[in-house]
Amino acid sequence: MLPSLSRREFVSGAAVLVSTAGLRLPVWARAAASVPAADQVLLGVDYYPDQTPESLWEEDARRITDVGFTNVRIAEFAWALMEPSEGKFEFAWLHRAVKILSQNNIAVILGTPSAAPPPWLSAKYSDIFEVNAQGQRLYPGGRRFTCPSNATYRRLSLTIASEMARAFADSPGVVGWQIDNELTLGSSLRCYCNACQTGFQAWLRARYHDLETINRTWGTVFWSQTYTDFTQIPVPLPSGGDPNPGLALDYDRYQSYANVSFQGEQLEMLRKVCPRHFITTNNVGLLDTIDMRDLYRDLDFVAFDNYPGFFEMLLHQQSSAPVPPDAISAMSAMGHDFARGAKGGKPFMIMEEQSGKAGQRSFGPQPEKGQVRLWTYQAIAHGGMGVNYFRWDTATSGAEEYWHGMLNHDRSNSPAFGEMQQTVRELKALGPELLYSKYVAESALVFDYDCSWAVQIQPGHFSLSYMPQVQSWYGAISPSHSGIDIVGPLSDLSPYKIVFAPLAYVVSEAQAAKIRSFVQGGGVLVTGFRLGAKTDTSQMVRTPLPGLLRDVMGVTIEDYVPIYSAKQGVRFSAGLAGADASCGIWADILQPAGAEVLGAYTNGAHSGKAAVTANKFGKGKAIYIGADLDAASLARVLQSLSGSAGVRQPFNVPRGVELTVRSAGGKQWIFLLNHTSDAQTMGNSKNFTDLLTRESMTGKIHLGAYAVRILQEA
Ligand code: GAL
Repeated sequence: MLPSLSRREFVSGAAVLVSTAGLRLPVWARAAASVPAADQVLLGVDYYPDQTPESLWEEDARRITDVGFTNVRIAEFAWALMEPSEGKFEFAWLHRAVKILSQNNIAVILGTPSAAPPPWLSAKYSDIFEVNAQGQRLYPGGRRFTCPSNATYRRLSLTIASEMARAFADSPGVVGWQIDNELTLGSSLRCYCNACQTGFQAWLRARYHDLETINRTWGTVFWSQTYTDFTQIPVPLPSGGDPNPGLALDYDRYQSYANVSFQGEQLEMLRKVCPRHFITTNNVGLLDTIDMRDLYRDLDFVAFDNYPGFFEMLLHQQSSAPVPPDAISAMSAMGHDFARGAKGGKPFMIMEEQSGKAGQRSFGPQPEKGQVRLWTYQAIAHGGMGVNYFRWDTATSGAEEYWHGMLNHDRSNSPAFGEMQQTVRELKALGPELLYSKYVAESALVFDYDCSWAVQIQPGHFSLSYMPQVQSWYGAISPSHSGIDIVGPLSDLSPYKIVFAPLAYVVSEAQAAKIRSFVQGGGVLVTGFRLGAKTDTSQMVRTPLPGLLRDVMGVTIEDYVPIYSAKQGVRFSAGLAGADASCGIWADILQPAGAEVLGAYTNGAHSGKAAVTANKFGKGKAIYIGADLDAASLARVLQSLSGSAGVRQPFNVPRGVELTVRSAGGKQWIFLLNHTSDAQTMGNSKNFTDLLTRESMTGKIHLGAYAVRILQEA
């Protein structure tokens, strides 16, 4: 319950966001015989028969069908009802619920319930609890209080999931599985218990084989930390001084692995028992505790959850500064791009989309008229193929009584009910060709978990952290509406004209080689301060910075300067002409070795020295932004570099309007999303048809408040 701590961390960077800027069904859809042929589109709602009197199930099923939904997700927290005592399984109630849904042509996604172990389990097994970073044990009473390494918890989770799988493998109507629920989100981000310590030691043995390598890799000679037995290796709990950075980075990697392998046990079983069903899991974007690329690697598609109103509430809670209207939409956009990127660009599903006021202890803002439809289309615009709304009814008991669904507490229709019905009708008419089309992106933004973790361990400046930096670069680039893919450090960069890599603090040899050949081949790389300062074992590099990429960047870092009270600024040269920028918390002082200077520092001892450089390397260009530029200057600089790299948007849109493009089989769909409360007008020279209204338009396009258009060239 109340994953508010981590959710707050999740949104902490959002305030700096400056602006928004041929049919191929997946294998499961073709193979899953239980998906009705005409309904291979996943548009549904998260439904809780376990929390609803059985006398209402028929009525619910009828009303769900009337909306036009094709599926529901159910049972992901119903462990106590499915296994009321250890080893005693009761699925009759769930069979009855599935039958009613299926008789009403509603396909069922079943959730395995491991996120919420029942009280009999926590009472009997006292070692299953997570221990947080302060060494405090969590307690039962909420959810997600368990350790991912704990053998007992894993065994019992796998047992209930296996029993469920056997019970429903051949049930008509069941089409797929969600494993667990939001592995990323608990009140404690990582576990530090004894089971994790043993698991960490075993993981290290498999990774490094011997202690000599570990001691050398981490440099344990510092503070007399040389390990002579694997069992001596600690987890990074409070210890009178900061932990060894190499150990701490490996621990974060281990925790990600522990969650992926926890999920892997259920996945392997489900593949065997339910070969006709698809398998996924849901998460919230922009949380970095689990490497999403690992988590989704063997799943059929990515499913993410999207709660823009909840983020808005948290932003208001954090600061009294006004929330820029496009900060929230940029955050959701980035979450969607993150989801798409987790599986190399494949269409993803929103497993939980906000449908009304979101709230746990406090209510979030009431969605404005049109906003729920807009949020739904934003997911589709960014590569979504399906959307389930959270949730059908609004709970009248439990920790989420304030979290509004499609029905109010009195079971009347919620204010946005009609909008959701309209959206479902529209999306069904647009059909799978659009929903499974490709998102068009000419730019990429690198997100590297190693960098995120290593910067958390040693920020370098107490205000520096990776996710907000990446978020502010995303916010700065997105007004170009070129389409941005979020890629990993080892992704193929060749499809992109320009690649942005902020705060690339850890650079491995393999990543350096990828970047070198991308730029050599004609690509443009834009990177920022602290580039390549660390090896992938979290030691400082021993060569002049930027280490492995010195030749590509054509600069040497003369000094690096965390900024506290002294002021620093940047004056641009003709190549990037514009007002002087202020420099926030960091300045890398650049010494060009072949690179052209695009900006120089204005103050203090480093006045006149290079702050921004561009280097021709092979057929491409590498730009180093050594200064922590203010948001407006960063946006101006990144957009200007994007333009020079040849990135073009189909036409200009005003601030607060988002434009994205999807394509398939020679067709293109242009999405226009108005995130503002004002009507907007934009010009274009082509002749478009709006697929939603069938209007054709030339010259001018009007877009009402919170409105959406999907345009195709006539
Ligand atoms: C999601 C979670 C749901 C529900 C919802 C509203 O993150 O998956 O189970 O808790 O938030 O809080």
